[in-house]
Amino acid sequence: MRVLSVVGARPQFVKLAPVAAALAATGHEHVIVHTGQHYDTEMSDVFFADLRIPSPDEHLGVGSGSHGVQTGAMLAALDGVLERHRPDWVLVYGDTNSTLAGALSAVKLHLPVAHLEAGLRSFNRRMPEEHNRVLTDHAADLCLAPTDAAMAQLAREGLAGRCVLVGDVMTDVCLRVRDTVLAGGSAPQADLPKEPFVVATIHRADNTDDPARLEAIVAALAALPRTVLLLAHPRLVARAAAAGVELSRGRIRVSRPRSYPETVAALLRATGVVTDSGGLQKEAYLLGTPCTTVRTETEWTETLQDGWNVLAEPGELVERVQRARPQAPRGAPFGDGHAAEAVVTALREAQRSSSLA
Ligand code: UD1
Repeated sequence: MRVLSVVGARPQFVKLAPVAAALAATGHEHVIVHTGQHYDTEMSDVFFADLRIPSPDEHLGVGSGSHGVQTGAMLAALDGVLERHRPDWVLVYGDTNSTLAGALSAVKLHLPVAHLEAGLRSFNRRMPEEHNRVLTDHAADLCLAPTDAAMAQLAREGLAGRCVLVGDVMTDVCLRVRDTVLAGGSAPQADLPKEPFVVATIHRADNTDDPARLEAIVAALAALPRTVLLLAHPRLVARAAAAGVELSRGRIRVSRPRSYPETVAALLRATGVVTDSGGLQKEAYLLGTPCTTVRTETEWTETLQDGWNVLAEPGELVERVQRARPQAPRGAPFGDGHAAEAVVTALREAQRSSSLA
């Protein structure tokens, strides 16, 4: 079986790592296509190096742009790449513009498409990620769902016949890297604050692109009575500079984006997390660090159970971050850390049954 993965943005490199390893372990052919949506070394290359992902076979080099320009450039470049490799599956990950482009390009060429992380919904149609998820699920031949809730949502949308529950591949990586970090390996922790600290990341367009909202979020972070390690996404840095919003204030310590092992190490040491990232909400849950999410909804609703994750508007942030640490044990709604193997099995079985049909 030949699988062609289309990835382009930071969280997709993390998801690619266990899938690439599972495909290699089972002797399947794997072609990796990097769209170039993320291109800074610390947003891309370090993930391939740290997570031991094979270098991309194809790099489209599209870079940044408006949604239409960025997605269109990917579509134009993907036709030739997909024609050249003629894979048995085009595998797309998550909810980014790279995902939508990969899915659309593949269906137009009548190549089977599988969507990893299918069935998640925020129901917030202002988010570009929401359009990308819905469109990709409905274009896909196979929806690989991470949770029971995602399976139920796909069924409500009439897609039950094409979906398989595989678990969450990010959990595979997170648990593996956690064990390495706890065993004293890999992650340099020297520049983490010595005192108790909160990890913060903000990058969603809804939070960064409105100067008044961005200012309110940063002001709330600065009002927290402890050190805030702000891992600054390039979009945050660019939008804050353009809007004249100073990030380094109060006890905020602005830091470069971290590698995956460094992020896990920071989360394990932090007393809490403030974020608008989907991945970080889940990683905080898996690592037992209370999370406060600066959004009005989350697609990872399981994390809200027992207050391990709470939603907050900027005006509520200071109070919510200081809530008591939840005492309830966490469940395992994201699988057992072996989702990537289940992905390979699901692809193989779906390929077999379609060749029999
Ligand atoms: C994208 C995804 C989002 C995901 C996030 C992870 C979409 C619609 N959004 O958002 O779902 O959570 O990736 O980070 O696909 N930039 C750089 N260097 C880079 C990459 C980006 O400087 O390597 C800057 C550019 O100014 C760019 C901006 O960040 O315009 C936004 O990047 P883009 O890839 O368009 O979206 P993200 O905000 O990263």
